[in-house]
Amino acid sequence: MRAPTPKRDSPNPTRRDALRAAGGVLAAGLMPGAAGAQRAPIPFGSAAQIEPFRSEPQYREALKRHCDVIVPMNDLKWEALRHDRANFDFSGADELVAFAEGNSQAVRGHTLLWGEALPAWAKAMTSRAEAERELVRHIEMVVDRYRGRIATWDVVNEVIRFDPRGEPMRDTLWQRLLGAEHVEIAFRTAARVDPKARLVLNDFAFEEKSPLIAARRRSALDLIRRLQERNVPIHGLGMQAHLYGENPIDIDGLQAFMAELTRLGIEIEVTELDVIDWKLPADAATRDRTAAKLVSTYLDAIAAVRRPRAVVTWGLSDRHSWIHQTFPRKDGAQARPLPLDADYRPKPMMDVLDRYRRNTS
Ligand code: XIL
Repeated sequence: MRAPTPKRDSPNPTRRDALRAAGGVLAAGLMPGAAGAQRAPIPFGSAAQIEPFRSEPQYREALKRHCDVIVPMNDLKWEALRHDRANFDFSGADELVAFAEGNSQAVRGHTLLWGEALPAWAKAMTSRAEAERELVRHIEMVVDRYRGRIATWDVVNEVIRFDPRGEPMRDTLWQRLLGAEHVEIAFRTAARVDPKARLVLNDFAFEEKSPLIAARRRSALDLIRRLQERNVPIHGLGMQAHLYGENPIDIDGLQAFMAELTRLGIEIEVTELDVIDWKLPADAATRDRTAAKLVSTYLDAIAAVRRPRAVVTWGLSDRHSWIHQTFPRKDGAQARPLPLDADYRPKPMMDVLDRYRRNTS
């Protein structure tokens, strides 16, 4: 993310700290082990959903109060923007971007290319020429509309196959019609339209200890190297970090990964942090403590080697989270994946995030 414009009348010292960091100190934070770098504040943000944003004043208030960065959770996806082939519907994204600008918050764009959340007409595309034409036109329209306003783009999302041993690329519409080149086309088009934007490859499941996850880290590095060899403009890796509460973090594996990314000159950001608590004990306080500890272990592991450009949670309050539908608990209890509880009260996870945001970690 490029430095957001400082908020002149911000009542919130943590935001001022984070914005200052984004403006300069962060450059030092990119040198692993540099003195003082470990303590640079990291901008914090959250993905925002348009429905509660429109209907709940408390939701907007929480976004304003806690976030340096806003990410439209669904409103920049093809499904939201491209109901039909001819027209673009920017209504939801425009509202969220305007809100962020009004609060001097930075915006991350999610996402220009994904194998999911495609409208029916796009799923029905059959030829290479058609797919390339639509992909390029889409990126031109969307990046151009927010040029200079959305500083960072998740250019491609989830292009690495879940088990990349063998074929490394995920089997999507884009891969079927355009082959692995779809990644390159997306990055080059975004860079052409907004040469100042930070362009990120976003993907998930890099943090656990298993041969599969180690292969996913290798696969991400291989892909980044291939792109760099071909002079494709790629600046960052977004790590989604949907952390499974019951699984330990592979600290050594993550740190080796961070060191390798540093060698490649690739910055990182945590883009979709939450804790999947479906297998944790029922007791809410125990779950909240476990989630906070896991987030702390994860952030401490990566930040010791590669300071993230931003830490973004996938939602802010337990009231609204995709985890409820995607990872429901067997006992029927509400999931508690996020830093605020369902009544917008901070949980222990927020203290951990604040440590980074306030420059004390
Ligand atoms: C999810 C949203 O949170 C849901 O509201 C939506 O119904 C489906 O998509 N990885 C991603 C995100 O990159 O875009 C997904 O977001 C969650 C998994």
